[in-house]
Amino acid sequence: MAAFDRFTSSSLYQRIYHLFDNPAVFNAYQDLVDGGKERRIRRFLKDTRYESVVDVGCGTGNWAITARGPYLGVDVSREFVESARERYVNDPSKQFLELDPTSAVLPGEYDLAQLVSVLHHLSDDQVLGLLERIVPRTRYLFILDLYPISWNPVARFLYAADRGDYIREPAEQKRLILRHPDLKLAREDDYFAPTGVYRHTLMLFEKQSHG
Ligand SMILES: C[S@@+](CC[C@H](N)C(=O)[O-])C[C@H]1O[C@@H](n2cnc3c(N)ncnc32)[C@H](O)[C@@H]1O
Repeated sequence: MAAFDRFTSSSLYQRIYHLFDNPAVFNAYQDLVDGGKERRIRRFLKDTRYESVVDVGCGTGNWAITARGPYLGVDVSREFVESARERYVNDPSKQFLELDPTSAVLPGEYDLAQLVSVLHHLSDDQVLGLLERIVPRTRYLFILDLYPISWNPVARFLYAADRGDYIREPAEQKRLILRHPDLKLAREDDYFAPTGVYRHTLMLFEKQSHG
């Protein structure tokens, strides 16, 4: 067994892994590896006209800042949803629900649905289930995800700690989303996080009407 695999099976690794369930640790980790993400997201969405947002896998609510109108964050983690509610307790335009939209019905209609660092947590079947539920309820779908820098051992550790089991190459991410017949790619970009640990893709899809 390679040294890295031995490490990821160790009890020390398991303890580190579960540290990420804690909202404060999760936020510190985001700041460490993803500095600059906010600027990139704002620039990427600058010319897109939307108001309401549904944020799938909203975590602790970091990306509620993209909202220009009503915002709903949904996540399977009760701890994250509670932390997000506390954070935005004085802003009634930001609502949070504990929900798995890959299998449950999502309430409401939105201009933009976003998945920020969530795609790599979902299997192909979960993504397709999500698209079936979400595409009828939104005009735009914004995806930000990471992709592997396999030569970088720090990145490998952080990928493992992040627990996304479905890290895909950018072309694969795009192909998967475009399996939904109503979506077309409107814009895409990518960047290296300043630490050089992660590389990110940004993709905007728009629903097209047939006929
Ligand atoms: C890496 S975190 C990203 C959180 C947030 N979008 C951010 O960028 O700060 C991935 C999030 O996806 C959530 N998640 C994973 N599977 C999910 C599912 N099936 N439905 C909703 N949320 C899910 C996790 O609970 C976690 O909060």
